Amino acid sequence: MDKRSSSTASIPERLQGKVAIITGGASGIGAATAKLFVQNGAKVIVADIKDSRGQSLCKALGTNDTVSYVHCDVTSDSDVKNAVDTAVSRYGKLDIMYNNAGILGDLDLTIQGCSNETFRRVFEVNVYGAFLGAKHAARVMIPAKAGIILFTASIASVVAGEAPHAYAASKHAVVGLMKNLSAELGPYGIRVNCISPGAVLTPFASNSMKMDSRLTEKMVGMVMSKGMVLMDPEEVGNAALFLSSDESKSVNGLNFVIEGGFNNGKASMSLTSGMKDLMKLFYKK
Ligand SMILES: NC(=O)c1ccc[n+]([C@@H]2O[C@H](COP(=O)([O-])OP(=O)(O)OC[C@H]3O[C@@H](n4cnc5c(N)ncnc54)[C@H](O)[C@@H]3O)[C@@H](O)[C@H]2O)c1
Repeated sequence: MDKRSSSTASIPERLQGKVAIITGGASGIGAATAKLFVQNGAKVIVADIKDSRGQSLCKALGTNDTVSYVHCDVTSDSDVKNAVDTAVSRYGKLDIMYNNAGILGDLDLTIQGCSNETFRRVFEVNVYGAFLGAKHAARVMIPAKAGIILFTASIASVVAGEAPHAYAASKHAVVGLMKNLSAELGPYGIRVNCISPGAVLTPFASNSMKMDSRLTEKMVGMVMSKGMVLMDPEEVGNAALFLSSDESKSVNGLNFVIEGGFNNGKASMSLTSGMKDLMKLFYKK
């Protein structure tokens, strides 16, 4: 057996012995990542505000020793501190902090349509929440001289005009935080990276817009008819798995964009018109 096939054989244990917290882990990308992490040998703490959903996900994924739920509002310093301290008291360490929780705010793409309240709230969850997660993770990772801090940003951190201002600005801020942190924490053996997905099939947009299933189905149909790629949350989970494992041991300070080709030429224009159609559909509702 050559070296390549023996490394393929070890794939199921890519996170063996690692301890991870996933914020926003009860749904969508976070839930898919929790599943992949457990399958790959990690102990996982799902941290979210959706308690019953998070608890039933953990029950479905494994035993309480392998995967457990902690209530954690990422905008609360004491909740985030508690999640990190729970990992350390339960498993003796924290290897991976995946700051994934996020909200869209609303879908209005105009500056006049973005309320001050929405802008503040989106920054509170997406940026302050990510900051608290990184701060408490670094508290235990710096003495250990090892760790992985990951964030979910968005395609909105690299493409203009496709997302509401509050959301786009918040995801740019997350990327800025990630880059600055990677410079500070790299010398401690802590790698800090971002994943920036395009459109992912999760309850994310429909929750923010309070869409019913009929409107959600229409939205999905329209997005697909524009030639856009709607990704499964597992695709983002696979990127998180790669960035959390030793396979990416030299990767630090990366904004890893996974967007199915939106970001070039024609596809980008399709997205713009798709977003406009979507807004019309939503606001006519
Ligand atoms: N779905 C997409 O198309 C898409 C695209 C790009 C980026 N993202 C980003 O991916 C991340 C995950 O989104 P998703 O698509 O899985 O959406 P989702 O709505 O399925 O999951 C988000 C989770 O975050 C949790 N959450 C919200 N506010 C929280 C808070 N204050 N504290 C703790 N948890 C909180 C929610 O309860 C939910 O379980 C977000 O950061 C989002 O911005 C999503």
